Amino acid sequence: MVQSLPPGKLGLPVIGETIAFFTDREFAIKRHERYGPVFKTNLFGQTTVFLQGADGNRFILTNETKYFQISWPPSVEQLLGPLSLALQSGHTHVSRRKILAQAFQPRALAGYVEAMNVISDRYLDRWVQQETLTWYPELRDYTLDIACKLLIGLDDGAAMPLGHYYEDWSTGLFSIPLNLPWTAFGKAFRSREKLLVEIEQLIRDRQAQATPVAKNDALDLMLSARDDDGEGLSLEELKDQILVLLFAGHETLTSALSALCLLLAQHPQVLARARQEQQDLADQPLNLETLKQMLYLDQILKEVLRVIPPVGGGFRSVIQDCEYQGYQIQKGWQSLYQINATHLDPTLYPNPQEFDPDRFDADRAEDKQKPFAHVPFGGGLRECIGKEFARLEIKLFAARLLREYQWELLPDQDLDLVVIPTPKPKDGLKVRFSKLQ
Ligand code: HEM
Repeated sequence: MVQSLPPGKLGLPVIGETIAFFTDREFAIKRHERYGPVFKTNLFGQTTVFLQGADGNRFILTNETKYFQISWPPSVEQLLGPLSLALQSGHTHVSRRKILAQAFQPRALAGYVEAMNVISDRYLDRWVQQETLTWYPELRDYTLDIACKLLIGLDDGAAMPLGHYYEDWSTGLFSIPLNLPWTAFGKAFRSREKLLVEIEQLIRDRQAQATPVAKNDALDLMLSARDDDGEGLSLEELKDQILVLLFAGHETLTSALSALCLLLAQHPQVLARARQEQQDLADQPLNLETLKQMLYLDQILKEVLRVIPPVGGGFRSVIQDCEYQGYQIQKGWQSLYQINATHLDPTLYPNPQEFDPDRFDADRAEDKQKPFAHVPFGGGLRECIGKEFARLEIKLFAARLLREYQWELLPDQDLDLVVIPTPKPKDGLKVRFSKLQ
């Protein structure tokens, strides 16, 4: 079969269509309508090919290391650091995933419930005291405190300099990588350096403990890990790994929690049914076992992550020429698998804009029609390593809210979503918050 080059416009010289890509949530959907299931464009100065829907996701995610290899926009690569799991590939990637995965095994997760509950108590009390609040920044502190406590054993992480530096760091994450004092990237880069200083101190403190107390957190696991040659991880790598874990462990979760709170407030019938499910389980303590019984909450969680996925898609560089649906995909290009656009595909999800947790009940199971149709956590070799940690944290938080608290959206606020680096309501989600009457 004769292969042709994918259709599409490369846009302006150098920047191509990068600005439209960052500002228009429907960037890919519109172009697929115009060009069909495969199109090309230019992002960050590179020819980039988009493959549509669940089939496109499957092609990319099952051909990782054969045709595709991880690549992030240049600003992200420089801010994450080359030694972080999110950028490693091949043998090193596999060996590091094995080490880090231990921090997310069911036994480890069961041990996290108590600390999550203690931190939740503190924040929930605070929000009741405040009565009205802008929730997003609060949720960010909450998720960062949990990540710091459980991954590196640090209390009150959000109140530490570390918390402050992460904010500037993530603001520059997707930006033009121009390292100047006044650019978003320049500020983020300086925050990265300060974050690394803080993280190095934490590592040294842990190493210096006279009688090491085994915390079995991600930091312990990495400090005791040895590679095939019996070597430990270098200090430089430890720093990059912790930086990425703390970032991934709170930024995406903040977005997911705020989306959950927003969508429940906007859909009172769903909220009422979710509260009923909690009442039916009210005599049981919150632990991994009871959380598993919350099937309607599972559906809600899936639907929240479908409608407002914290990560919109993933970049890969093309490492070998290949063919997809009759189109040539050339080595040296980059490609993108699409989370957001797949979740809005009406052939998979009828009325895709509608928030409808019942689409995931046993009868409809819309996500099961095709592999890679519901991919908030990606898939394949690089599927999110913190997926179960995230699900635990969201479900526990949701169950606490549904059992004990009520919240309503304050009027006169902009609820449109800013999508970079992760979706959040423009005015930060302003609510009135109180104990459930
Ligand atoms: C990778 C989403 C929470 C750590 C990913 C990927 C996605 C994702 C889509 C794959 C990116 C790609 O294919 O290029 C999410 C969402 C979360 C979440 C939606 C919350 C709702 C977490 C948490 C952690 C974490 C809590 C750690 C504590 C990571 C890491 C990777 C990753 C380290 C890179 C894995 C690799 O390249 O092998 N995440 N994530 N994530 N996630 Fe998450």
